[in-house]
Amino acid sequence: MDIFDSKGYFCVLYAPLGGGPMSAGSTTGGQRHLGGTMRRDAWWLELLPVVILLGAFGTYATLRAFEGTYYEWGPYLSPFYSPLIDPHHRWWPFSPALLILIWPLGFRVTCYYYRKAYYRAFFLDPPACAVSEGGKRRYRGETAFPFILQNLHRYFLYVGFIFLIFLWRDAFHAFFFDGRIGVGVGTLVLLFNVSLLTVYALSCHSLRHLLGGKLDCFSCVAFAGPRHTTWRWLSTLNERHMLYAWISLITVGLTDLYVRLVASGAVRDLRLL
Ligand code: FES
Repeated sequence: MDIFDSKGYFCVLYAPLGGGPMSAGSTTGGQRHLGGTMRRDAWWLELLPVVILLGAFGTYATLRAFEGTYYEWGPYLSPFYSPLIDPHHRWWPFSPALLILIWPLGFRVTCYYYRKAYYRAFFLDPPACAVSEGGKRRYRGETAFPFILQNLHRYFLYVGFIFLIFLWRDAFHAFFFDGRIGVGVGTLVLLFNVSLLTVYALSCHSLRHLLGGKLDCFSCVAFAGPRHTTWRWLSTLNERHMLYAWISLITVGLTDLYVRLVASGAVRDLRLL
């Protein structure tokens, strides 16, 4: 049976008969101290990969954003620095990445899946389905500062699509070496990265809602057929949103790392064609 945790995020299993959103007390067997639960499994194991992966990515991305070097080589440009703005520091004295990272960062931070993941792993609020967060704080959901800012997600989505245009342009440019068409390992890396980022964005809950999920009646609106087809297609992607969120996060980090290694001379880019 499907239910929601005490913060309204989707849970599977551990629901008493009746289901539906319910109080923390009813899902934790009445235990109200931090970690209190009737669960007998190692629920805390779910938190470790989130802490490790998000922690590692956050640290790496922050260091790279401030580094300000080794972000391009030949036709390759790191996704952390795209679109490249003022690389010669005419008016912006700091790393060019700092001008743009707020947008992809905001998109990820406000993502419905990541919210659930980091609320649990970093805030222990609650730590897991049917596990108490403890305390007697009054829950205000995402209706007050700062969490009300999570509602900006759909606007980050719009900007995210603009970024995807730049990243597809970068992947296209990666096929040209000194004016000649070619393919290097970096070409494939950039292409793979932008493909996964696109799938991640297309599987977004907000996008699915905007393009059809909010409708009660498809046949009552204009372009009913195409809209329904699009909604079904996006729904299929949406079922694996968590998977795409993680794979695309790892891929974008590794893509930047590859460009950095090639640009710094640590490895040589292999030309395939
Ligand atoms: Fe995750 Fe929109 S809900 S990207």
